Amino acid sequence: MNILGISAHYHDSAAALVIDGVPVCAVQEERLSRHKGDAAFPLLAIESCLQHAGIEPDELDAVVFYERPMLKFDRILTCGLRAFPQSWRAFPKAMKNSLGEKVWMRGIISSHLGMSGRKVLFTEHHQSHAAAAFLTAPTSRAAIMTVDAVGEWTTLSVGDGERVANGPTTIKRFRDIRFPHSLGMLYSTFTAYLGFKVNEDEYKVMGLAAYGQPTQVEHVRKLIRHTPDGAFALDLNYFEFHTTAQRSYSSRFVELFGPPRNPYEPIDLDTADGQRFADCAASVQQVLEDTLVGLAQALHQETGLPDLCLGGGVALNGVANARILAESGFERVFVPPAPGDAGCAIGAALYCDRIWFGNPDHDLPDHPFWGPSVDGSELARVAREDGHLVGECHDGALINQIADDLAADHIVGWMEGALEFGPRALGHRSILAAPHTIEMRDRLNREIKYREPFRPFAPVVPFEVAERYFDIPSGGARLARFMSGVFPVRREWRSRLQAITHVDGTARVQVLEPAMAPRLHALLEAYGQRTGIPVLLNTSFNLAGEPIVNREVEGYSTFLRCGIDVLVAGETRVMKRKAAMTKTPVNTYLNKEAV
Ligand SMILES: [Fe+2]
Repeated sequence: MNILGISAHYHDSAAALVIDGVPVCAVQEERLSRHKGDAAFPLLAIESCLQHAGIEPDELDAVVFYERPMLKFDRILTCGLRAFPQSWRAFPKAMKNSLGEKVWMRGIISSHLGMSGRKVLFTEHHQSHAAAAFLTAPTSRAAIMTVDAVGEWTTLSVGDGERVANGPTTIKRFRDIRFPHSLGMLYSTFTAYLGFKVNEDEYKVMGLAAYGQPTQVEHVRKLIRHTPDGAFALDLNYFEFHTTAQRSYSSRFVELFGPPRNPYEPIDLDTADGQRFADCAASVQQVLEDTLVGLAQALHQETGLPDLCLGGGVALNGVANARILAESGFERVFVPPAPGDAGCAIGAALYCDRIWFGNPDHDLPDHPFWGPSVDGSELARVAREDGHLVGECHDGALINQIADDLAADHIVGWMEGALEFGPRALGHRSILAAPHTIEMRDRLNREIKYREPFRPFAPVVPFEVAERYFDIPSGGARLARFMSGVFPVRREWRSRLQAITHVDGTARVQVLEPAMAPRLHALLEAYGQRTGIPVLLNTSFNLAGEPIVNREVEGYSTFLRCGIDVLVAGETRVMKRKAAMTKTPVNTYLNKEAV
């Protein structure tokens, strides 16, 4: 049975193809259109999935859209009418927007794909999140919690799921919290207030939080009231997101927290305003964590299950995830590589397969690599024509060469196999570098990522030695598989892991098992043999404002436009002419005897 899942028209559109119960391809539209956060109907992603499987649209048994457009329309209409007359300016625009192509998805999909509208199905938004979280996790029974800004009406749901090997699957929702009461909207409101982009820059708020003190917690708690049944409600006097698209916070919010940050001015933590913004970030982060931990604790008591599957965009908050693992009572917490709306494409297709069609359960591959693959030979041809140093060699020799490059402080653009699905580079489209010095962090920021200095870089470490360098609790390695948890760097290693240690001593570490990305794992070992520390800085392979690279030509173009010294795709290594001439000696500041 061939089932295509689609998410679109909010942010980060995607398509995923499930054949006989197993995903075969999933990709975000932005990676193909090269338009960051592309929310358009994902024609390129759909084409990529169909091409990958070698099937035509008429061979699809179903196409599943990740939410119910009419229910969403109902929410927009109801909120618009309820907020009248304040909403009079925004209301016509919202109606026009919704009544455009968004409501008529059945017709849009069937006409784009040239297939019968009867084959077009719809899941609820949080059903898609729940399915993406539970059905891709290696657990047969788990509690499920989904948390985002909003889908149709639901903003948070709790429930459980059960899979029986080769048998039926159930996903139950116990209850939900509905718009406008939303943890995601609370966090996004602070994202906007702090001058960042809503739905995109929430992780910057998390990064900034480490520089602040939660001095404003009591103020944030005025915004969110906890109800006797363990849920919460926002005090809507402080918000405007439910009445207008122009601004998400009200003048009362500004009276409480002070003037918002001008997005065009950098945050200077040495000024009173800069510190105030960091304190606001720390305060909303703490309230978010406390609320999630409380909800997870209650869900653990209610279900008595050891496993929790977390879905929705809020599950990208690695600091909160680590606290849920530590404090909720769950022994294992699973977060998929794409917990946000893009991941709903896989969730919708799997939900349809298991629940609606009642197809038997399958264990799914436990990795994030569902996109198009790179071809190193094409890169070698183009780079040779441009006069760069090109080498092509088999695995062992290549890995050794790249380990030498990294140990000589060269920055490496690393492309390997199939593209990751989800926002994080997990070893197939990564920029890798030595993680030891502040100078390397600053060089990456200056020459490649051009981003705010308060944002930390992430490390990757082999599973076998992760606990030596990082304070990873029981169950933490699972959370760190897809970089979904933030854990302390061990104190004794912080001075030698400066580029990846955040100001509060933590890191959003990826713990890599050899089977998931064998070549990167081998590279970590080879690097460890040279420097004594098998840890690398791993940041996504893209420039600021651009999506993660997909094809080798995009990696090559990025390589040419920034300070990356060496580019690898498959078995091809390209060294920039300038980098070849300024090759520095292998790191000597690392005391191998000490490790
Ligand atoms: Fe969502």
